[in-house]
Amino acid sequence: DADSPNIPKASVTFTNLCKAADMIRNHVAPVAFPTETVYGLGASALSTTAVQQIFAAKNRPSDNPLIVHISSVSQLRRVLHTEVPDIYRPLIQRFWPGPLTIILPLPDAIRQEDGTEAAVISPACTPGQSTFGVRMPSHPVARSLIAITDTPIAAPSANASSRPSPTTAQHVYDDMSGRIPIILDGGACNVGLESTVVDGTVSPPAILRPGGVSLEEIRKYGGPLWKDVMTGKSEAGQDEKVRTPGMKYKHYSPKAKVVVFLGHGDGRVGEVAKYIRDLEGDLKIGVLSSRLFKFDSWDEDVKKKIYIVKELGKSGAEISRNLFAHLRDLDEAGVDLIIAEGVSEEDEGAAIMNRLRKAATEILDSHRHIMKN
Ligand code: TXA
Ligand code: MG
Repeated sequence: DADSPNIPKASVTFTNLCKAADMIRNHVAPVAFPTETVYGLGASALSTTAVQQIFAAKNRPSDNPLIVHISSVSQLRRVLHTEVPDIYRPLIQRFWPGPLTIILPLPDAIRQEDGTEAAVISPACTPGQSTFGVRMPSHPVARSLIAITDTPIAAPSANASSRPSPTTAQHVYDDMSGRIPIILDGGACNVGLESTVVDGTVSPPAILRPGGVSLEEIRKYGGPLWKDVMTGKSEAGQDEKVRTPGMKYKHYSPKAKVVVFLGHGDGRVGEVAKYIRDLEGDLKIGVLSSRLFKFDSWDEDVKKKIYIVKELGKSGAEISRNLFAHLRDLDEAGVDLIIAEGVSEEDEGAAIMNRLRKAATEILDSHRHIMKN
């Protein structure tokens, strides 16, 4: 019930949609809403004050840019004042509405023939950048909210900074309760990982963040020129100014320590069991399993040491949908250590492994080589 100050989760009714839209239009406060990827925390992208309220509510580092959400290409043209670059045409045609964010040059303020200034995206959305990211979500609640406000909505994921992105209204509530006036509850997000971010303003065109659209699909529909800048394990240092702001921050982190096992095949499973058996102390251990960990076959002494097992799923889509929710569930269960099974990096696997790497305190490859601390 939106009227209770302690429980701001609101069912998706026309009244609540209009209430949220009014808050956005009048720059009252940012509101949380569902998208097909993750929940967003939205405010008018045209207002610097409104955008700054998002950074404050999330406690977000001020140089991490927000994604602008639109409900139609004509709405985008109204703030862009030019055509969308040709390189994006096939991608937009195939993936919008959907989990794809494109990078565009940030337009300057424009004086119209009648002397007034045309609406422009506030530079506060994208601090220190000459570009901004934009996407058209497919979730009906997100689309309706944007259409009702008739305003482009700037929205990062609605988690508190450095927490896993929220895929249910309850997750948003857990992080943001008391800091925002309303959470539109659209149920669980279908994709579960954030959008793929692509930059066609540079040469060669670059995939900046793997996400809901796979790299294979980007190249299939956008052409073979697209390069994945996340390939390799390099992550930007803390004080570097990077082309992919946001990727340098610690991210998706549950409170527990996370150890990710890479390498696939049944031999690995024995190694994981041995790792758990050898752990000393009275640790509460949670396991995130996907395709290969089969606990029925594990020795009793190992099974006894495991407090809780969460199955991520068998397909890439299922694993994507469950990953953030399961990380949060393991935190709720109070585990000290999460043992996670890596997946191979094709199709949805690239985005899954990108998020798992960021959640990890340690990554063990098949030679027990520690790749991160
Ligand atoms: O699926 C999504 O993208 C969700 C939903 C709510 O739409 N949004 C989201 O926003 O995940 P978030 O919190 O990840 O932040 C946006 C990220 C930045 O951290 C950065 O990596 C990238 O998008 N980004 C945004 N604007 C950019 C720009 N101008 N240049 C490069 N990267 C940018
Ligand atoms: Mg985020």
